[in-house]
Amino acid sequence: MIIKSLTETIGNTPLLRLYQGDNGATIYLKLEMFNPTGSMKDRMALSMIVDLEASLHGFQGQPKIVESSSGNTASALSMLCASKNWQFTAIMDGHASMDKVLAVQALGGTVRFVGANDGELSTALRDAEARRLAESNDGFFWTAQHDNPANSAGYAGLCDELVSDLGDDIFAFVSAIGTGGSLCGTAAKLKELNPDVLIVGVEPEGSIIFGGPAHDYHQSGTGTPAGADVGLVIDYSVIDLGKKVPDRNAFAVCRHLAKSHGLLVGGSTGGAVYEAFRIAQTAPEDAKIVTIACDSGTKYLDTIFSDRWLRSQGIDPTDLDSFDFESAAEHRAQ
Ligand SMILES: Cc1ncc(COP(=O)(O)O)c(C=O)c1O
Repeated sequence: MIIKSLTETIGNTPLLRLYQGDNGATIYLKLEMFNPTGSMKDRMALSMIVDLEASLHGFQGQPKIVESSSGNTASALSMLCASKNWQFTAIMDGHASMDKVLAVQALGGTVRFVGANDGELSTALRDAEARRLAESNDGFFWTAQHDNPANSAGYAGLCDELVSDLGDDIFAFVSAIGTGGSLCGTAAKLKELNPDVLIVGVEPEGSIIFGGPAHDYHQSGTGTPAGADVGLVIDYSVIDLGKKVPDRNAFAVCRHLAKSHGLLVGGSTGGAVYEAFRIAQTAPEDAKIVTIACDSGTKYLDTIFSDRWLRSQGIDPTDLDSFDFESAAEHRAQ
């Protein structure tokens, strides 16, 4: 397939039949790491840039884009800005995986760090710095992913792809929630087609989207820490259930999928798949349960997949590797 632009490779990702229980309930995993910068965020970044460009009539010169990001949105925006010869500045913190920081820089983006450089998640500080730049009269445009309707609108294609592969009788859509763009954008469209679909948002334990208590977590890119605002993109009216998954359970799933299925996923996907497994245990016969692989585990080889890093977080890797998700019904989809 010859293409003229990398944007043509955004979307149309494969859907993996991951697991099938005794009663035919099946978990499908949408492999969003097949997008060009390795995450679902390429979809919403394209949508936000198209939207911004449409509003730029009469603007002289090359716009400068700024965004606060844990790294995947920043990588996606870097790719798109590079192809337009626009400047891009990512506001990041010490919580971001080094792979994501390096990807932004490799794609020509500038990274500005805020907060303590000790792995602390500093979403509120990041957002404040992006706002400051946008208001500085220095020619910056802030895509403001937490409040930008083009974020959720960017997932219309994801919903269409799911319905085209599975039909509209999906039993449950279970996915990570950070800005809420991917969950709520997909869910709103799925609910229009089938109001009975169960929408489950999954955040790390310690995140505050579905209430407290707040504490640190290391599922990257997902959730909202204490002190940061829950943005306008989160539409609670389309979410039926909010679940919290501790890091250790999410990481256990990541390591299990890697070693038993050859599939590398990030921590937020681990959390969502953990909940999808739980739902599958009690789901009706032949229920279709869909979840999203938000990004690839290759971005976290030095954290989730590193025994040394896990021990530094007080997690014993041998505990994770003995976690057995399929003990109830050892029927992996063939
Ligand atoms: C790895 C990962 N998982 C989950 C999310 C949450 O997605 P959303 O912002 O669409 O809620 C993000 C967002 O940055 C992410 O990068």
